[in-house]
Amino acid sequence: MGASLALSWIRRGHRCVGVEGRRSAPTRKVHRLLIPGRARPRGRQESAEFDLLVVATPDRAIASVARQWSGRTAWAGRAAVHTSGALPASELEPLRRQGASVASLHPLTSLADVTADPKVFEGVSFGIEGDSLASRWAKRLARDAGGRPFLVPTEAKAFYHLCACISSGHLLGLLEQAAEDLAAAGIPLRQARAGLFGLARTTLRNAQRGRPGDTLTGPILRGDLVTIRAHLRSARGERQSWGSIYVLLGRMLLDLAVRHGKVPAPRARQLRSLLRRPR
Ligand SMILES: NC(=O)c1ccc[n+]([C@@H]2O[C@H](COP(=O)([O-])OP(=O)(O)OC[C@H]3O[C@@H](n4cnc5c(N)ncnc54)[C@H](OP(=O)(O)O)[C@@H]3O)[C@@H](O)[C@H]2O)c1
Repeated sequence: MGASLALSWIRRGHRCVGVEGRRSAPTRKVHRLLIPGRARPRGRQESAEFDLLVVATPDRAIASVARQWSGRTAWAGRAAVHTSGALPASELEPLRRQGASVASLHPLTSLADVTADPKVFEGVSFGIEGDSLASRWAKRLARDAGGRPFLVPTEAKAFYHLCACISSGHLLGLLEQAAEDLAAAGIPLRQARAGLFGLARTTLRNAQRGRPGDTLTGPILRGDLVTIRAHLRSARGERQSWGSIYVLLGRMLLDLAVRHGKVPAPRARQLRSLLRRPR
């Protein structure tokens, strides 16, 4: 994430003056990408000439990197950001204590590897939280990458990231597991994946175009009790976890539909009593 962001910022005229990691081969590779033509200095790099430190390590390493950096330079007037979704800017407290302004800058996207694709952050939302100078930096950098910054309240960071994970990795896990279980039930895996992924893509595309609530669909919205009973019967035995997920998400969908006026109260009562537990 760090290298891909840096590449997008360099394209917009920012300058990268140093790269650090623990392992030398991958760090050299990123150094060559971001600072072509300049040999990587041995050991720690001199760090006098920079405005902003970007800490793009796994979450567990952010605090120790901040501790290491706190004594390496004068921090007053400088800023530092990390790219964690779950942790707040205070993870960089050792730098803040030395006078740095700190923030978190979290791109709501998923990258498996370094990419120089100029469109990779185009239209991506960036959750930003922290001190004012570093947050101003973060907003500017989000825009320079082609993204859309928005503020996340500090106390909501972990929940913000929980929602992000459910909308991304958990959703993918759900689809992959559904495809595998359909394969076990006799539908070839390739067709099952193509079918479910295509359906999810259409649903999300329609939802993004419409107003919240207007694009909700399915038997709960239609009040098809017969269909819902059949679903629940199909999720017994070793498929019981599908029954639990169906009921949990079904009740959430029903509450949403009621709030948006899509399901009348008497129908909602019937549906709620059906969506109690898998039978
Ligand atoms: N990938 C995504 O899709 C994504 C999306 C949104 C946000 N993020 C955020 O971006 C951050 C990095 O994620 P990633 O997927 O890019 O991880 P990653 O591919 O594992 O890269 C982490 C980098 O941190 C370096 N590193 C690890 N421990 C270090 C330490 N103690 N000191 C210095 N460098 C260290 C690693 O290099 P060495 O092993 O050589 O030290 C590596 O270059 C995380 O905060 C994550 O939440 C990632």
